[in-house]
Amino acid sequence: MLIKRGPNGIDLPYASEITPRHVFESRRRFVQQLALGTIAGGALLEMATREAFAQGAQKLAAKPNPAFVVMDKPTSYKDATTYNNFYEFGTDKSDPARYAGSLKPRPWTIAIEGEVNKPMTLDIDSLMKLAPLEERIYRLRCVEGWSMVVPWVGFSLSELIKKVEPTGNAKFVEFVTLADKAQMPGLSSPVLKWPYVEGLRMDEANHPLTLLTVGMYGEVLPNQNGAPVRIVVPWKYGFKSAKSIVKIRFTSSQPKTAWNVSAPSEYGFYSNVNPDVDHPRWSQASERRIGEDGLFAKKRKTLMFNGYSEVASLYTGMDLKKQF
Ligand code: MTE
Repeated sequence: MLIKRGPNGIDLPYASEITPRHVFESRRRFVQQLALGTIAGGALLEMATREAFAQGAQKLAAKPNPAFVVMDKPTSYKDATTYNNFYEFGTDKSDPARYAGSLKPRPWTIAIEGEVNKPMTLDIDSLMKLAPLEERIYRLRCVEGWSMVVPWVGFSLSELIKKVEPTGNAKFVEFVTLADKAQMPGLSSPVLKWPYVEGLRMDEANHPLTLLTVGMYGEVLPNQNGAPVRIVVPWKYGFKSAKSIVKIRFTSSQPKTAWNVSAPSEYGFYSNVNPDVDHPRWSQASERRIGEDGLFAKKRKTLMFNGYSEVASLYTGMDLKKQF
């Protein structure tokens, strides 16, 4: 990512001191409370400030899924929709909220193709009906050293994968996102090779945590967060979570992903959140929670796989320092 340098020449992620903050309570206890009804998913969402909520966005009926809820306080809607990375609209954090109004999320089609027996092209409304929508509260950790907690709406990507019947040659899934100069002013800048492409290995794509995402905070996705459909892969750095997807391609070889192509020594294909593997230009041991930890506050400790330890078995036998 483009990281701005502070006046002393230090990368800004270093600007605040690193001290672990042990605020992560037991996920299990939280889920138990949810199951008992002591905490309602809806009440949790009320904890998020909602200043920008009344934009008249379409509401989505989604059932909270307590198996996929972190106990951390959700980030406010305002922060989650005004501090974004979406380089198609500019590289400043405020650019997507400012400029993504030109994105037209409807009508929208998404093509699912490649190594599948049943390729299909779906319009966004049909895609949203493929499986029941769930609300899941995930942490998202950006490679730049900040994180958020967002109530997303969608369903496991595996639901879609089942429907297209991948062939035996399908080893990876590639996500190709919209690149339309007429809608996306940032495309005139060569900051990345467009379109923005991301990818996952098949077992990662099929992991139930991997969320095909169509909404957040109970409404359709705002443009700046990747309308009308994106992926959210919560155990990986945020750049793996491609926004505004137009094509999902099943491939036999590893996709060439945008960040990996532009800076292979800095952004690997896997990009699992890993406090033990530094980015070449900064530490990944800690993070700043947007809206909670001020720029000069002490940062909180980053957890292996962003706390999603259930994915560890996907990487058995791999050297995660080499395959970062
Ligand atoms: N998808 C596209 N198409 N273009 C982008 O620039 N940025 C990525 C990811 N998906 C990006 C993208 C990065 S770096 C991050 S951290 C997340 O989106 C941010 O998601 P959010 O703005 O919803 O928090």
